[in-house]
Amino acid sequence: MTDLPFRRPTLPVELRVADLLSRMTLEEKAGQLTQYFHLGIEVPEGLDIDALPAEQRAYAEQPKVVSDAVRAGLTGSVLFVKEPSTANRMQRLAVEESRLGVPLLFGFDVIHGLRTIFPVPLALAATWSIDTIEAAQATAAREARSVGIHWSFAPMVDIARDPRWGRIIEGSGEDPVLGAAVAAAQVRGFQGNFGPSNILAGPKHFAGYGAARGGRDYDDAEISDSELWNVYLPPFRAAIEAGAVNVMSAYMDYNGVPASGNRRLLTDVLRNELGFDGFVVSDNNAVRSLETQHFAKDLTDAGVRALKAGVDMEMCMFNPAFSRLAQAVLDGLLEEKVIDEAVRRVLTVKFKLGLFEQPYVDEDAATEVLISTESRELAREAAEKSIVLLKNDGGALPLTTASLSSVAVIGQLGDSKRDTLGPWVFDHDTDETVTILEGLRSRIGDRVTVDYAPGAGIPPRVFPSMFDQMDASVVATPENYDDAAEVQQAVQLAARSDLAIVVVGQRQNQIGENASTSTLDLPGDQQEQLRQIVETGTPVVLVVMSGRPLDLRWADANVPAIVQTWYPGTRGGDAVASVLLGDTSPAGRLPFTWPRHVGQVPIVYSHYRTFAPGDQGARYWEEPSTPLYPFGYGLSYATFEYTNLRMDRTAVPVGESVTVFADVTNTSAVDADDVVQLYIHQRYGTSSRPVRELKAFERITIAAGQTRTVRFTLAPQDLRYWSAVTDGYVQDATTIDVWVGGSSSADLTTQFEVTDSDTGSDRGTA
Ligand code: BGC
Repeated sequence: MTDLPFRRPTLPVELRVADLLSRMTLEEKAGQLTQYFHLGIEVPEGLDIDALPAEQRAYAEQPKVVSDAVRAGLTGSVLFVKEPSTANRMQRLAVEESRLGVPLLFGFDVIHGLRTIFPVPLALAATWSIDTIEAAQATAAREARSVGIHWSFAPMVDIARDPRWGRIIEGSGEDPVLGAAVAAAQVRGFQGNFGPSNILAGPKHFAGYGAARGGRDYDDAEISDSELWNVYLPPFRAAIEAGAVNVMSAYMDYNGVPASGNRRLLTDVLRNELGFDGFVVSDNNAVRSLETQHFAKDLTDAGVRALKAGVDMEMCMFNPAFSRLAQAVLDGLLEEKVIDEAVRRVLTVKFKLGLFEQPYVDEDAATEVLISTESRELAREAAEKSIVLLKNDGGALPLTTASLSSVAVIGQLGDSKRDTLGPWVFDHDTDETVTILEGLRSRIGDRVTVDYAPGAGIPPRVFPSMFDQMDASVVATPENYDDAAEVQQAVQLAARSDLAIVVVGQRQNQIGENASTSTLDLPGDQQEQLRQIVETGTPVVLVVMSGRPLDLRWADANVPAIVQTWYPGTRGGDAVASVLLGDTSPAGRLPFTWPRHVGQVPIVYSHYRTFAPGDQGARYWEEPSTPLYPFGYGLSYATFEYTNLRMDRTAVPVGESVTVFADVTNTSAVDADDVVQLYIHQRYGTSSRPVRELKAFERITIAAGQTRTVRFTLAPQDLRYWSAVTDGYVQDATTIDVWVGGSSSADLTTQFEVTDSDTGSDRGTA
């Protein structure tokens, strides 16, 4: 066996794949296309499994079903193994006991870190720092690979324009250009050059999952072609161009056809238009659910149609539909060559990763990797960069300890380690997680008394989160919590302190998958408590811990300083303390438009101009229709002035590039980062276009008093768009307005002409 051609590393991968494929039975081929969940269940010895109710029995039997399938060569991949010893144990079954010894590929949701937890993905996007995001995911990859994980189901690149949808937290927000840049950075971070510290990236969920109707997770999405191409696909395109070898299909019905059985999406768009040549995995149980969604007739039909549509691997817990593929071939429902093509894609990745040469993980090496202090430092840096200063009247921040002797930290989220980490963490170290209270105490505790009151309770979800049962560290307000008494104590503490830092928001299990909401109000009595604290007259700093915009209208009108910290991760408390104390100037920027209240959603900055452009703020008669904070917004302790906006030419032929320059001066006495953003608007053309669209950005550091010139090149593909008129991309000859500034409300503007011919040789001012 050791001498078979597929085992020879010196042969080209295609030959190895072809050789192996030629030796496989139909069942083994279908097995390579099956991915089982590792449920991590230990079945107690002597348990009478047969006596259990059907569902419990299925769970109790599942680990054995999986081991047997691995041993029989009927499984290509397993997900959710995070112990190196378990990975090796299962890998031995595949490599040493199965007929052909094809190694398993281990996948996992490495979303924002494995042991070192980075800020949640939406917060990483709020850094607008591409290098930081890439470095964070490279660290996550190193940790994951050290425990035997080969592949992450990330990045999630679904554009989300409705913050009721819980999964907004896993992506980069509302904008395709920001989303594309962040997607590509994550793919580069995970995959690197496919070395021993890298893992595969799997951008998900293809496609349009973020458009769930009403923001209700899993509900159907109805998306026009122009929205699909202009809004939802750019991050996928960027991830694919960055080399992503996997894509995950989505659950929901897309224009009436489930995404995981949708040939138009998975083959015509993904493979033929976007040029993806890796393998597609289904979302969990999404192939089986083609039957549940009343699309497929039965499980066989589900498997056949998913495969034919373009799913190469089925992720599931029980009873895979793909286990019926072999019979389907024999019954004439499917051609074997369709299976071969999918197997070829899966095996190619296994060879590329070197799994045949090194299937096992070094069980001792992980400890070293997982305790790295550099990784924790990077998590702190990323958290600092992600924090968005929403309001800072009268220079309330940064705090000066000289004038403070007592600080009150108030709010359950202010001292909750688990909530500080956010959702989608499975291997964190709770002990080393730094809460906001702890961060403040370690930063100023030697000079200032920092007292704490948990205050208002946060009511739990009405049904438990799907992750709660897997998470021993999950925190909830106790049922017998005396809310009124706790609020009173918190208010009293605030009254006798020099400053109150009030932490409000949602718990980590109130956002994420299956965690949509119908309200953006602060849960429980947090709002009322804030009002009472403000009434004491003690100065208040409001710290918001959330992964979606919440209704801050009252706070915005009544509290001088508001800071959005997201769920900042392992070193979150340290990061919040350093921003509040001014060790670093905040420069996070909103990756979404912050609505005033839930009735405004969906609301985006890149809306259309309409026939009544002057009325944009008055579309509702009882409330301004403008947002509370615009996309791209965030304050700084420094002040910046933008001047001298110019181009290298003012007439640009269709198909050519133009370079835009602007000078940014830090007019303050503090060194700080700024996120310079470039927006455009097309005045007329084949279709009407949004009032503004982000086209480029750069986060830069500018020393106090310094001026830096930023330069952005707009290529023809930045000026084209997909038009419903032509059913394809167009670039119009037109007038383009350009703005450069610190948010989507930037007012420094100029224009250039896009010309039909090459008369566009006018030289600009630069
Ligand atoms: C989610 C995916 C995730 C998978 C595996 C699904 O429910 O939609 O995003 O990767 O579970 O955990």
